[in-house]
Amino acid sequence: MVERAGVRLSVRGAGEVIGRVQVPGDKSISHRALILAALAEGHSTLTGVSRCEDVAHTRAALTRFGVEFTDLDSGAVRVRGGLRNEPDDVLDCGNSGTGMRLLSGVCAGVDGVSVLTGDKYLRRRPMDRIAIPLRQMGARVDGRHDGGFAPLVIRGGQVEGITYRSPVASAQIKSCVLLAGLYAAGRTTVIEPKTTRRHTEEMLQAAGVKIRVEGTAVTVHPGPLAPVDHHVPNDPSQAAFWAVAGLLAGEIEAPGLYLGHGRADFVGVLERMGGDIEVDRASGTVVARASHLRGVEIDAGDVPGILDEIPVLAVAAAAAAGTTVISGAKELRAKESDRIATTAAMLRAFGVQAEERPDGMVIHGRPEFSAAWVDSHGDHRIAMAAAVAAACRAQGESLIEGWEAVATSYPGFATDLENLSGLRVSETPGAPD
Ligand code: S3P
Repeated sequence: MVERAGVRLSVRGAGEVIGRVQVPGDKSISHRALILAALAEGHSTLTGVSRCEDVAHTRAALTRFGVEFTDLDSGAVRVRGGLRNEPDDVLDCGNSGTGMRLLSGVCAGVDGVSVLTGDKYLRRRPMDRIAIPLRQMGARVDGRHDGGFAPLVIRGGQVEGITYRSPVASAQIKSCVLLAGLYAAGRTTVIEPKTTRRHTEEMLQAAGVKIRVEGTAVTVHPGPLAPVDHHVPNDPSQAAFWAVAGLLAGEIEAPGLYLGHGRADFVGVLERMGGDIEVDRASGTVVARASHLRGVEIDAGDVPGILDEIPVLAVAAAAAAGTTVISGAKELRAKESDRIATTAAMLRAFGVQAEERPDGMVIHGRPEFSAAWVDSHGDHRIAMAAAVAAACRAQGESLIEGWEAVATSYPGFATDLENLSGLRVSETPGAPD
């Protein structure tokens, strides 16, 4: 594992943020498009795949299984799939929980031994949530703390279909088990406590796999995948940063987004806050205009649909009149950082009163923020949320340490911020991590 060099972002706020922005291809869909194309026998062509580091790690990991990727001049990626053998080296998933958990499902299915590792943040994230069902299917999963943490060693091949009732609403767990289920003897069912994003189900179906969804249960039948040409739409979770920037300080239009189940719920929360935000489902466009926001209650019912957007929704709450209470969000503690702690700390750095609760936080809004010195804690979404706060509401120079984490999902964020805001935004070598 090569750890990234530290980068510090300086933002001289506050100003207007106005314009149209093409955010990167959806990260969740990009991982899945690469993996499903790798599993399919034959050639697939993918367009719109995110160029972020997380997805690059998944692509590199798939090459270890002998899958070939070719970058076409058009920007499309051609994939020669047919993944069947164990990988010839360790799979380095970088910072990506999605990459590690989805690939683990594949590793459980193929004959042989796979070793998966990642950066120091990923090696701290819980993997027992996938080790448990994969073992029930018959795979052997070892790792630090009895398979609770990576590096993981998976011995796969002879898996059986199971019915797994997941204790956590997690699309990563669901997808891991469904991918292993493609290789199983018999069918595999995953039952979630609440339905999470449905990309795996939608994309397996498009690849000709027999799959049935009934309420919160998804059943997959083993079988081969057909190669598919897939266009990856733009990432709504990245557009959420700009939507909040538009509401706080101008007007933003983000086109071409995936607005399907479980990914666009942040729009409803921002509307509840009084935001002037419009959605055109046909073109996948979200438009957000400067608004007076008010605090809201966000609870367990909202959380699975806005999981990744909470750090930037917290910035909106910090700029809103009144108090916002977020509850039922304990899962945030298992993300790239402990996002309850790191979101609250980020807001406090801007002079906002924000208190942690075991399963959420309480945020007291204020009209202006003070310039801040923020630590990303290696978490891309904390860094980008802080950049929005700095650009829209903090007078003077704010510094964001650990900005290098942003490359995991949105390498061009600082350039887009500079173009949309006209503010001085600069990246310099940061403090060693
Ligand atoms: C993802 C699912 C979510 C989300 C993550 C991407 C996916 O995680 O937070 O950024 O692509 O399946 P969990 O499913 O673990 O909650």
